[in-house]
Amino acid sequence: MREVFLANRVRRLADELGVAIMAHNYQIPAIQDLADLVGDSLVLAMGGPRLAQRTVLFCGVSFMAETVKVLAPEKRVLHPVPDAMCPMAGMVDPVILEGLRKESPGAPIVAYVNTTAETKAASDICCTSANAVEIVRGLPEKRVIFVPDRNLGAYVQRMVPEKEVVTYPGYCHVHDNITPGHVAALRRAHPGVEVLAHPECRPEVIDVSDHVYSTEGMIRHARDSPSGEFIVLTERELAYRLTAVTGKRAYAPDAVCPNMKKITLASMLRVLTEDGPTVELDPDLIVRARRPIERMLAAGR
Ligand code: 13P
Ligand code: SF4
Repeated sequence: MREVFLANRVRRLADELGVAIMAHNYQIPAIQDLADLVGDSLVLAMGGPRLAQRTVLFCGVSFMAETVKVLAPEKRVLHPVPDAMCPMAGMVDPVILEGLRKESPGAPIVAYVNTTAETKAASDICCTSANAVEIVRGLPEKRVIFVPDRNLGAYVQRMVPEKEVVTYPGYCHVHDNITPGHVAALRRAHPGVEVLAHPECRPEVIDVSDHVYSTEGMIRHARDSPSGEFIVLTERELAYRLTAVTGKRAYAPDAVCPNMKKITLASMLRVLTEDGPTVELDPDLIVRARRPIERMLAAGR
């Protein structure tokens, strides 16, 4: 009851103030339901600049809110909980990248979007989980450095064997904690149901899955498939989103991203009422961080 009341107040206030609400697929159902745009990292990165509203309330972790600001610096980006940080994004920084460049001279650095603006600015091109394979495949160099996710890097190497992918030992604890044992238990509970894995999962989990997709890719696959049920190896809220979009059933392991869950309806109401905090980035950093993201978008993948 309190949730419905809060959700209505947030929606009404956002409309009165002319604020667009963006939410990642891992946000709680009540936030997904009231957002103007819900999606994976790629959908949100591309969608932010296209929104008509000058102010955006971003519901997700801080690197995603930063990406909106980098691609649409003219917008005010409200982020309700600035310390909602992706721990994986904190595992690399420009100094580490400099060391990696010295170890592999001439190899471009591909930075997953799950990185800070500073790390992006020190990289050559970005990718998301939706386009990592195509981005690496399209680079002219044979050897590429991939940061920070060792699991996504290993998946890219598996899919692009003609390249030499130098990985870094970063990981997402939410996906890395999913084991083949969890997959076996889900398959036992839901016999015959297809398993869709996020590429942030470990290689041994990818081995026992049927398909690998970004969160949005999982939804597209479910929509286009004749099947009515899916096992999704990713953060549990994706199951709600998949059902909301496709009307089909989805089962996820009990994987929760605590940083995504720092965004609450109460914090959204507060940020709207107080008109802050907003994402603030140095103009020079915006210019430098935009280059590798735009290079990714220009690759059209
Ligand atoms: P996508 O939603 O882009 O698949 O990424 C998943 C993720 O873990 C983002 O933090
Ligand atoms: Fe980061 Fe993993 Fe949470 Fe995504 S799910 S924000 S990669 S910790």
